[in-house]
Amino acid sequence: MKIFVDSANLAEIEEALARGFVAGITTNPSILAREERTDVVEHAHRIIALVRRYGRDVPLSVEVFVEDPAEMLDQALKFASSLAYPALAIKVPVGWNELKVIAELRRRDIRVNCTCCMSFNQAYMAALAGASYVSLFYGRIRDTGYDARLVVEQTANAFRRANLACEIIVGSIRHIQDVNEALSAGADIVTVPPKFFPQMTEHPKTTEAVQQFLADYRRWSER
Ligand code: E4P
Repeated sequence: MKIFVDSANLAEIEEALARGFVAGITTNPSILAREERTDVVEHAHRIIALVRRYGRDVPLSVEVFVEDPAEMLDQALKFASSLAYPALAIKVPVGWNELKVIAELRRRDIRVNCTCCMSFNQAYMAALAGASYVSLFYGRIRDTGYDARLVVEQTANAFRRANLACEIIVGSIRHIQDVNEALSAGADIVTVPPKFFPQMTEHPKTTEAVQQFLADYRRWSER
């Protein structure tokens, strides 16, 4: 069970890398669009340089931002050759024509993170087509009225039964409870917006215990 950072912001990524827990980074065009306008490949190079500075060649997902499958393939190949990062995964949205792109990238040994999966069928077909990761969108699935936990559970069970070497990433995290639920439902990875990380390390009883220890020590040492 791994935790990825769902961000393209260098400062946020660095805050997570410096704390050692981060096992990967995911981006998407909307996440990139929050940064200063630049070339996607250039920005991905900056992320890779940062990751390497911390000696952690963790997986990085970069998404195509065109709709035509032939153009998707071209863009994916361009990302792969210009970034030349072994842990790169190209994010390709799920879809009938997109499965061809996934299969072709797999044939060329380029890892794919099949994204925008909202159902078991989508995730399963993408994994069979050769995706190394499928991204299930927890918050957005819940928005449709479906039980996101069940979708993750069904997908995890099916991957295990079929012995598929495809990892399930759960994204679209809206609350820290989503992280716990997704992992206990069988997600291999949760990709989390950095604003939730500090909250994930906090607990009122921890604060209470630490404060009590400090106060007791102070009283004892000042006696
Ligand atoms: C992760 O890979 C996704 O890109 C991301 O978590 C989507 O989240 P959203 O539903 O908040 O856009």
